[in-house]
Amino acid sequence: MVDVNREKIDLLLKHQVPFYEPGLAELVRRNAESHRLRFTTSYADAVPGAEYAIIAVSTPEGEGGEADLSYVEAAAGSIADHMTGPLVVVNKSTVPPLTGDMVSEVLRRRNSKHVAHVVSNPEFLREGSAIQDFMHPDRVVVGGHDRGAAEKVAKLYEPLMAPILITPNIYTAEMVKYASNAFLAARISFINEIARICERVDADAKLVAEGMGLDKRIGPHYLDAGIGYGGSCLVGDETVLVRRDGVVAASTLQDLYADVRAGVGAHVLAWNRESGGVGYLPLSVATMRAYEGDVLEIRTAGDRRVVCTPDHPFVTRTKMKLARELNPLDWLPVAVGQFPGCEQLSLLQVGAETAAARTSRSSGSGLNADLDRSVEFDVANTAWVRIRDVRPRPYSGAVYSLEVPGAHTFVTTGGLVTHNCFPKDVKALAALAERFDYHPELLHAVMDINRDQRMLVIDKLRETIDGLHDKVVGLLGLAFKPNTDDLREAPSLDIAKVLLAAGARVRGYDPAAMERMQPILPDLEYTKDAYELAAGADALIVITEWNEFRHLDMVRIKASMRTPVVIDGRNIYVPSEMRDIGFTYRGIGRD
Ligand SMILES: NC(=O)c1ccc[n+]([C@@H]2O[C@H](COP(=O)([O-])OP(=O)(O)OC[C@H]3O[C@@H](n4cnc5c(N)ncnc54)[C@H](O)[C@@H]3O)[C@@H](O)[C@H]2O)c1
Repeated sequence: MVDVNREKIDLLLKHQVPFYEPGLAELVRRNAESHRLRFTTSYADAVPGAEYAIIAVSTPEGEGGEADLSYVEAAAGSIADHMTGPLVVVNKSTVPPLTGDMVSEVLRRRNSKHVAHVVSNPEFLREGSAIQDFMHPDRVVVGGHDRGAAEKVAKLYEPLMAPILITPNIYTAEMVKYASNAFLAARISFINEIARICERVDADAKLVAEGMGLDKRIGPHYLDAGIGYGGSCLVGDETVLVRRDGVVAASTLQDLYADVRAGVGAHVLAWNRESGGVGYLPLSVATMRAYEGDVLEIRTAGDRRVVCTPDHPFVTRTKMKLARELNPLDWLPVAVGQFPGCEQLSLLQVGAETAAARTSRSSGSGLNADLDRSVEFDVANTAWVRIRDVRPRPYSGAVYSLEVPGAHTFVTTGGLVTHNCFPKDVKALAALAERFDYHPELLHAVMDINRDQRMLVIDKLRETIDGLHDKVVGLLGLAFKPNTDDLREAPSLDIAKVLLAAGARVRGYDPAAMERMQPILPDLEYTKDAYELAAGADALIVITEWNEFRHLDMVRIKASMRTPVVIDGRNIYVPSEMRDIGFTYRGIGRD
């Protein structure tokens, strides 16, 4: 086993595993002691003479939401440099279709002496039950352009007695993994949406899911309403134009978010796909998340400005770009014209001649072409303004995004047409689809619902206790799921940051992830167990459904809390039992 990370290899050489995974340390120790498993940082030690090379390196999120394949490329290059004979290169990293071709190309370019066949063999294991999942998979998928190589890889799995699907080209195998993940995400978003409806009609989402899951065509898995995952990206003092009861006014995103959460609807000035111009469209969702890092101030000609996170997408005159990719050669769309009842008219107005001169009529892209059409207002139009500069500055606080149905844009008072963010996760597949000129509507809906879900527990908390300032809030669980100490994409991070930003005192307890969390969020008070977490607290939020939380002495917990409030982000407790004990209890989709 080769890893470029020296620290990890040093631990493994001592038969220690650098992360928490049940049973893995024992498996590593047993196989290392019997010399079936060796560890090194050197490809020269590992590759020469090998029959197979398995690539399982990280594929983090890259620019525009697509997977960052640089580690896969580097591993392929190192394999090519050290292979001494024919080789089957198996790709186990989660990668989009066409990556196998890139790996083949690297191998061919870097080593013309020996032939390497690339086979895709996606991995479906879940952290927390990785060994069980790997040893007893529901299916094994392999695919390669060379049938012989694919069959050779399939043979390795025969002892597992699992169904093996060999696909005749590599792209199909690669796609199975992405499609499976997107489908699972869709199930979670689906049940989260059902949960929101359940809350409004007094139905119990957990039992609804149980009732659905008994149908063999549906099945019970991945139907747990819960916290979800997400992202958004404009700073809170950014303003947009809002129309309520016929009155138009500028509102900061921060205020608008609070209004929407309080159930006050609004129409915001946005690009209207139907009319091709800008108009007031109903606001469907406002989201907030905590953000720490650089934000970018983008200034354009005419002194318009917008401040956003570097991954915020913009339509430019040529193509969609992220804020961090923008430069002074780019043009951004700006809303221009007369807006009835709008006192901020001067902010938006660009002289008709200038607007006409700057309006692009040559673009081939549908979006750009649509932006050019003027319809709804007498002189409504969208023109293009040149970027003057893009300046980074450090930022720590909440960032916001708005969702306007169908449009995916809104207009800031600088007049700039701004987009909402690409959400996370299924993002890579969606970004791939967009690259091939397909707009994946369902994937976008799946991501949007997931994005909003994690702030729901905070909304419920706000509704239940009177203000968050100085309140002691305990987070039961920090890892993104039980039986792991993995914090990547963990909702606990965002939830803790938003609570801290609101002035709450936040405590955290997790059976495995405390050590990893401490350097990331030193402001949390870490406790030795769930009982210490609860003592004197104003509320507990269940973030991770660790088994031990199901078996806590809840009577003791209730007695020790200052106010007995439990927001159960994972629906692990029975509402009636919790209420009988005396808790103010709120679940997801079962209030
Ligand atoms: N974690 C899961 O549950 C899971 C499940 C299925 C698939 N996957 C996929 O498997 C891949 C690995 O996931 P992970 O969770 O183990 O990631 P990870 O980041 O924990 O581990 C990847 C390792 O690759 C090493 N690495 C990076 N570049 C290298 C190079 N050029 N040569 C050798 N080593 C290199 C890193 O040092 C790191 O230790 C990803 O593509 C992931 O999507 C993960």
